[in-house]
Amino acid sequence: AHQWRGVIREYADRLPVTESTRVITLGEGGTPLVFAPALSKLTGSEVYLKVEGMNPTGSFKDRGMTMAITAAVEAGAQAVVCASTGNTSASAAAYATQAGIKCAVLVPDGKISMGKLSQAIAHGAELLQVNGNFDNCLEVARKLSENYPVFLVNSVNPARIEGQKTGAFEVVDFLGDAPDYHLLPVGNAGNITAYWKGYKEYAAPYASSTAGELPAVATKTPIMWGFQAAGAAPLVAGHPITEPDTIATAIRIGNPASWDQAIAARDESGGLIDAVTDEEILAAHRWLSAKEGVFVEPASASGVAGLLKYHARGLVPAGKRIVITVTGHGLKDPQWALRNEDGTDVQPTKVDFDVVAVASALGLA
Ligand code: F0G
Repeated sequence: AHQWRGVIREYADRLPVTESTRVITLGEGGTPLVFAPALSKLTGSEVYLKVEGMNPTGSFKDRGMTMAITAAVEAGAQAVVCASTGNTSASAAAYATQAGIKCAVLVPDGKISMGKLSQAIAHGAELLQVNGNFDNCLEVARKLSENYPVFLVNSVNPARIEGQKTGAFEVVDFLGDAPDYHLLPVGNAGNITAYWKGYKEYAAPYASSTAGELPAVATKTPIMWGFQAAGAAPLVAGHPITEPDTIATAIRIGNPASWDQAIAARDESGGLIDAVTDEEILAAHRWLSAKEGVFVEPASASGVAGLLKYHARGLVPAGKRIVITVTGHGLKDPQWALRNEDGTDVQPTKVDFDVVAVASALGLA
């Protein structure tokens, strides 16, 4: 059976590597495209989830990080830096460890989940909690990389976008063509930029550096629908948000670095970027866990929140193929599953070690 070799080796023809490149990989990519029965039934369309929580560090960031760390090592880097709401730092720390180089991460003070924080610590990153939000962290990380011998591995690094575009390749390879719609969460806007680049590349002949001209793989590109959290929706407002706020801490970002590229993806694809409230995000998070069997972190549910919102307004057409990227694993930030819809804590039912007591608690006796 074929063992997946990570996105760089699988898509070497379309990535900035050569035969002598030392590939830094943890086997990322090749994530499941899961048919979503409940969302499909609701909408009358064929809805699939691209489950990016199945990557080695539990989020889609690994696709970009394998490429960014590989490129940094090729350029002679001894150290990398990133700003992060948590997932990028977890990923950078893991890949830098495999490469044998140093990693520094700047995270907003107190607003990142325990799971993500513990990953950066476990992989031995220099972890600095900055007295500020993600946008402040990114500004400092950029200046650090401009003035000191450290490479920036945020998605403003083009290698990150190159790696992340493989998400679109996998969708097309699996479905046989591009879907009609692609929905995803939007924070710093690297991922919407990367998916759109990947879809465009697959729909046109491609001048590969190693294999000559490759024919088009897809006959079309999808309509891109991006969703930000309502308290952190600068692309919807049309201006930066100085104090972004949402329970979806992964996308608590007020001034996305890939702003122009996100708008281009929206407009070129005939799509939209809209906002979903924290309540809508948590309802979608519950829907995914309870109806599809897919456990994600809250931010990851915002694409699904968008689908549910647009469906309720009668704006989701039936008979289409819809792919939604769910970006990170539920175990990254599990506390939200332990909360009831009314905000109270879930209390486990306690029973004695007795079969009749257990049967009666289960309503069987
Ligand atoms: N979903 C998750 C789980 C994320 O961690 C992020 C971004 C996004 C969606 C948004 O993706 O920024 O490409 O638009 N997390 C970054 C981080 C900012 O630092 O981990 P985007």
